[in-house]
Amino acid sequence: MARHLITSAIPYINGIKHLGNLVGSQLPADLFARYQRGRGHEVLFLCATDEHGTPAELAAAKAGQPVADYCAEMHAVQADIAQGFGLSFDHFGRSSSPANHALTQHFAGKLAERDLIREVSETQMYSHADGRFLPDRYIEGTCPNCGFDSARGDQCDNCTKQLDPVELINPRSVISGSTDLEMRATKHLYLRQSTMKDQLEAWIDSKTDWPVLTTSIAKKWLNDGDGLQDRGITRDLDWGIPVKRGQEDWPGMEGKVFYVWFDAPIEYIACAQEWVEAGKGQDWQRWWRTDMGAQDVTYTQFMGKDNVPFHTLSFPATILGSGEPWKLVDYIKSFNYLNYDGGQFSTSRGRGVFMDQALEILPADYWRWWLLSHAPESSDAEFTWDNFQASVNKDLADVLGNFVSRITKFCRSKFGETVPEGGSWGAQEAALMAELGQRLRAYEGHMEAMEVRKSAQELRAIWVAGNEYLQSAAPWSTFKENPEQAAAQVRMGLNLVRLYAVLSAPFIPFAADRLLEAMKCDDRSWPGDMQTALSALPVGHGFEVPEVLFAKITDEQREEWQARFAGQRS
Ligand code: 2FM
Ligand code: ZN
Repeated sequence: MARHLITSAIPYINGIKHLGNLVGSQLPADLFARYQRGRGHEVLFLCATDEHGTPAELAAAKAGQPVADYCAEMHAVQADIAQGFGLSFDHFGRSSSPANHALTQHFAGKLAERDLIREVSETQMYSHADGRFLPDRYIEGTCPNCGFDSARGDQCDNCTKQLDPVELINPRSVISGSTDLEMRATKHLYLRQSTMKDQLEAWIDSKTDWPVLTTSIAKKWLNDGDGLQDRGITRDLDWGIPVKRGQEDWPGMEGKVFYVWFDAPIEYIACAQEWVEAGKGQDWQRWWRTDMGAQDVTYTQFMGKDNVPFHTLSFPATILGSGEPWKLVDYIKSFNYLNYDGGQFSTSRGRGVFMDQALEILPADYWRWWLLSHAPESSDAEFTWDNFQASVNKDLADVLGNFVSRITKFCRSKFGETVPEGGSWGAQEAALMAELGQRLRAYEGHMEAMEVRKSAQELRAIWVAGNEYLQSAAPWSTFKENPEQAAAQVRMGLNLVRLYAVLSAPFIPFAADRLLEAMKCDDRSWPGDMQTALSALPVGHGFEVPEVLFAKITDEQREEWQARFAGQRS
């Protein structure tokens, strides 16, 4: 049994995420976690809310709430929606947890001990209109790298370049829109990651199996311009983790907090501590400390491409720089963007379908299937209502749903709701089992490689194979001449339903549960040999015809939703 540590990029606390966010990290991470559990491996799947920094402060101010209250409320909302989507986190933590406070301060202390932090006196944007220093996210302007006119002070969303606010052209305050900004003296801490460039580069070069998207972004920022730059890791904010060296105060840093991107990835570790504190597990070190058991762990991270620099450079610099035996990531699966109906999903502009709205109109599996089977892997992808309707109606309703309904209803009408005996299987069944065996190995290969779209295609082909078998075996015709043989065909069909439930569970867990319930079976064992897998429901085993598994999306619904989600979310 292997051990898999899996983390999804932790979503910002400010508001409900859209479907593009979901497919960029949490959903494929869940697919992988469910698959590895299905294969019988030990999995620790962690996610959390990213609660510090200016996005949280700004959103709380807008909601007229104290930040801590706002975060607590939004964490509960996000946790609830995650559950609605079947995201099977072992723990959904909070970056504002006491565990993360202590661990972040611990890392800062270790880095300082090893001379990897320097104090820098610098000037920073001060806004007269707002009466305060403006942290990077409170400033917007034109990107010096690509010319995008709404680049944020920390990063350009258009070209992914990590920025310093002072680099922006024509900067303005996000709070007031004021351009009456002045540079004033202040002191900050910098992580000396430039000194670790060679070490980081050697580590990235050793990851020859990583997706090109991941390594190309990492290499770009390692070697761009003057190479890897030191990063400021403190900010002038009230909300956040107070700057300390371990448990000690840091002279000159009073009133400052760590930069959100310094503490957010550390939450991956703190989250495992929260998991233990919540009584859900024991021994988090076994997952995170290579001197305490984590040397056997395979650690995989999932994220959108904009998060790659922080996970390939900054966070590894924190881990390596600490000099302590923390587990480093083994594989980083990154995603391009999902666009929405001819434009971009946008949280700030409320454009697209958000996770809560999606669940209001259709069950989670419809979304899970479409999003995963169209995951933006090799390039950006686009959600359109036409495509969504076509894919749900064909794949889920016509192929899988129809198969289940035909075979269970036919059995009920001729043999009742039990697996009939019938004769033994012949050449047609042998051919089907050979095809399924081959496709199953391909499916496993794609899932191991986290090739999400290819996995979905192979799963669909597995469903199609059952449909084609049923079509050509045609037990409804066989029955007239040879009821014995028809019964054997039906036995095959019913066993296929169980097999499909097991294989499909990582993609559509709710439908899989319903199928297993209808088949009155809790055998979720992953198939090895097909003959055995397709004999799991023995002769005489009772079942029930399930309710319609997937309803088709009508043209009226499609038009209504397209119109409803064309505007802005209020
Ligand atoms: O881009 C985002 O949504 C960030 N909140 C991701 C943080 S991932 C990590 F480092 F914790
Ligand atoms: Zn740019």
